[in-house]
Amino acid sequence: MKIFSGSSNKSLAEKVARQLNTGLSPLEIFIFPDGERRVRVIDRVVNEDTVVVQSTSPNPDTAYMELFFIVDALKRSGAKSATAVIPYLGYQRQDHVFRDGEAVSLDVIIETLESVGMDKLITFDLHSIKIPELFKIPIVHLSALPIFAEKIREIARGPVRSFPPASARSSLSSSNELRAVGNPSTSATPRLSNDTILVSPDMGGIRRIKILSEMLSNMPFISIVKDRDLVTGNIESNKIDTDPSQWKKTVKKAIIVDDMISTGRTIDAAVDLLIEQGIEENVVFATHPVFSNDYKNILQNSKVSKIFVTDSIDVPKDKKFEKLEVLSIADEIAKNL
Ligand code: R5P
Repeated sequence: MKIFSGSSNKSLAEKVARQLNTGLSPLEIFIFPDGERRVRVIDRVVNEDTVVVQSTSPNPDTAYMELFFIVDALKRSGAKSATAVIPYLGYQRQDHVFRDGEAVSLDVIIETLESVGMDKLITFDLHSIKIPELFKIPIVHLSALPIFAEKIREIARGPVRSFPPASARSSLSSSNELRAVGNPSTSATPRLSNDTILVSPDMGGIRRIKILSEMLSNMPFISIVKDRDLVTGNIESNKIDTDPSQWKKTVKKAIIVDDMISTGRTIDAAVDLLIEQGIEENVVFATHPVFSNDYKNILQNSKVSKIFVTDSIDVPKDKKFEKLEVLSIADEIAKNL
């Protein structure tokens, strides 16, 4: 088996190759002055099973074009099979017609991937469980939830490092960064216990939160009902689906779980709502760090305590911020190759 990487997430591809005790096979990707790309397979791949790792964010159009060319080049060079590892499947939120006249963009992407010769897809935490049905080829739909569950257990076992309650936060630095009390130089890891509840920031994530709850010995969960304007993307209203008398009394900490963070507005609005309800600490787990527009400002200034994402999308140094921790999915990918 030979492993290739597109240019969008080479560090993840390298980790996957390392897990499999091999290296990446060389690929020439040349960018012409007008922006067009030329892809050339250098290794001999005749009758080989090949794997291409390519995330499709940021710049989904460029990433997809590059992937189409890599798969085409591999197949033309005689590869027996081409498995695409697309940890974050770009365009997945456009999986059906929301308003008359719209394209089903994800369908176009899938048809193109299949027609250039992709034989199998490995991907993570799709926005909708119906997406695999759109493919004619086999698709392995993995999840970061086991990694999140492990981290949540680890946090629960970890050393006691208290977080300032919401009421004390106004005395923190103007950038609103949260730091551990008594250890101002370290970014804090909150301690989670049975006063903690799992939260889906919208009803679309309810299945995800139920699965995570089962992994964590039926940790209680609630969901926020989020209404978004389909044209502007603005969040119009946010409320909790469960009567507060059923969960509010003892709960002080929330673990919000989402499939992706793009602008950060969903998380920011969820945290504000939970704080209004008396929750003192909010920790976020989201698989895909899509991170667009003003996300850094929004999340850094939000009252969220800590955000865990995965490397399904590369997060270079300049996209990181203090509250963020990146967990790797390389192991999961390697196990499934
Ligand atoms: C929406 O249904 C998704 O699950 C995410 O909540 C959403 O895409 C996040 O976007 P943003 O960070 O821009 O609010």
